[in-house]
Amino acid sequence: MKKFLLGTNWKMNKTLAEGLAYSAALMTIIGKYPQFEFFIIPPYTHLWKIKEALAAQKSPLKLGAQNMHEQDSGQFTGEISPLMLAEIGVDIIELGHSERRQYFNESDEAVNRKARAALKHGFTPLICIGEQQADKDYGVSKEMLAKQLKIALTDVPAAAIGQFWIAYEPVWAIGVAGTPAAAAYVEEIHDFLRRVLIDRYGPSGAAVPLLFGGSVNIDNARDYARLANVDGLFIGRSAWEPELFEAIMVALGTITK
Ligand code: 13P
Repeated sequence: MKKFLLGTNWKMNKTLAEGLAYSAALMTIIGKYPQFEFFIIPPYTHLWKIKEALAAQKSPLKLGAQNMHEQDSGQFTGEISPLMLAEIGVDIIELGHSERRQYFNESDEAVNRKARAALKHGFTPLICIGEQQADKDYGVSKEMLAKQLKIALTDVPAAAIGQFWIAYEPVWAIGVAGTPAAAAYVEEIHDFLRRVLIDRYGPSGAAVPLLFGGSVNIDNARDYARLANVDGLFIGRSAWEPELFEAIMVALGTITK
């Protein structure tokens, strides 16, 4: 049985000192919850030190980067390459988060190039997709999501199944201004995404982990986690303190799929 995935994106939060304290606390906590596979996605500047701390404890906590350039090196001021992240020993590359799409004009095509580069370098791309409020209002959420997903996975072969994860994060549900999605809506969309993946890859598409994110909190986490097509939760604010994250682990209990 595959473990339920549970992770947090720190976004542009926490100093290195805060990040190290958080990581130390979380490493201790997760030992009590072997039913989950955990990951954290800190800012780039923290990755080396946190990786050292994880390695020193032989922690199963997985480490991710919030973005990556698709080229190995070059004239791309301010960017970080796959080789640099491989040197650190990062496991996961988060790609296409709605904040990257919204504030840094990241396109579906760029997400695809980065996803292929991440796979080539042995990382697990965590590809984020999500519709805007206006898409939902116009009734075109599924069309938008299918487009994002299909473009992101162009030329990603079936052999890569199991090596990439998809996070569905409705833009209208993310962050302080977000509204939590109804669980029934999340299941409808995850079921749809599952079918898109099966259309694309055949039956093996069913094995692609589908995470949900956007205003996940202690009150709604279990409702989302028990949905048939939700394989993990990707959490922001509600997991930024180790004790609050642990409260969610307790609320989730045992998730059997
Ligand atoms: P919030 O849980 O703070 O809404 O953020 C979710 C998110 O963006 C995870 O990537």
